[in-house]
Amino acid sequence: MNELEDLVRTAQAAFVASSTANDLENAKAQFLGKSGRITELMKGMAALSVEEKKTRGAAINAAKQAIEGALNERRQALADAELQAQLKAEALDVTLPGRQRAQGGLHPVSLTLERIEGIFGSMGFEVADGPEIETDWFNFTALNTPADHPARSMHDTFYVEGGHLLRTHTSPMQIRHAVQHVKRYRDRIDAGQGMPEIRVIAPGRTYRVDSDATHSPMFHQVEALVIDEGINLGHLKWTVEEFCKAFFEIDKIELRARPSFFPFTEPSLEWDMRCDRSVPGKITFGTGNDWLELGSSGMVHRKVLENCGIDSGRYQGFAFGFGLDRMAMLKYSMPDIRSFFEADLRWLKHYGFAALDLPTLDGGLSK
Ligand code: DAH
Repeated sequence: MNELEDLVRTAQAAFVASSTANDLENAKAQFLGKSGRITELMKGMAALSVEEKKTRGAAINAAKQAIEGALNERRQALADAELQAQLKAEALDVTLPGRQRAQGGLHPVSLTLERIEGIFGSMGFEVADGPEIETDWFNFTALNTPADHPARSMHDTFYVEGGHLLRTHTSPMQIRHAVQHVKRYRDRIDAGQGMPEIRVIAPGRTYRVDSDATHSPMFHQVEALVIDEGINLGHLKWTVEEFCKAFFEIDKIELRARPSFFPFTEPSLEWDMRCDRSVPGKITFGTGNDWLELGSSGMVHRKVLENCGIDSGRYQGFAFGFGLDRMAMLKYSMPDIRSFFEADLRWLKHYGFAALDLPTLDGGLSK
């Protein structure tokens, strides 16, 4: 084997032995670089005759081309291997199960509110919304509860600068809504044509200085108000009854009215519903020997009507108010009102309100 063939083989072997692009470039320099073997051989031709140069030059060129061919081949092979390795490392297994998305759910308070709005909506009630920071006038005085009235002591609340307070009940919405109503129909009223009836519910947040298993400093109430000519206690009873049947999804219920006192109603009544609580943790409505408190109500006090600019000689009204969270607790058998506001997903899941499994940060699934 001549010297050039030998050189080509050595180069081929060196290239094959290079396992990275960097090694390969170093190997290339040995043979094809400025001071590589081929360049040296070229330089060595200086002393040769023209004839010898021709044959020797052609032979060196052929060797050079063979070495370059081997280099390119190896370059390609390394590039292919690198691509394969990358593809393997970044491989996607399309058969793996997908990551589950967190599936949200409505909070039981929101669900209860939606149900209540739906039921009253079907009975022709509007839904009104009002401020949680109220004036003393709307929260107390206009509701026939003047500054020194003992009934105020049951409604201790959070006072804000400027004579405002966090409303202690949704009853101020009776005043706000009725005042607006009278304003809207001012011309008709002044012309002696009277005003259309008021039939409204006002759900919302309310506040009191209270906290135990059945009281939370922030809670929700729903107020209902109906004002028209000839409204009487029978209308009130029917409405409470129909609402309870629809809300608890039972045909047969039994209600009991107890006399009570509220400054803004006369007479005032509290409603209880017959229930069976003999099985611990379970309430059955419609049978049993127990009574469950539902809410408070009454015929709107003459002074309240007058504070709204309504002719109390012509119009009568009934109103009732009940705790929305309380209704949710009864509906879903939840024992502690405070859990509603702790934002604990485990609690929501336990009652079937939240979410399937939630993705965790590392991409796994929480159980
Ligand atoms: N606002 C009363 C409370 O929170 C409840 C109430 C009583 C509302 C009688 C009414 C009503 O509409 O007529 O204690």
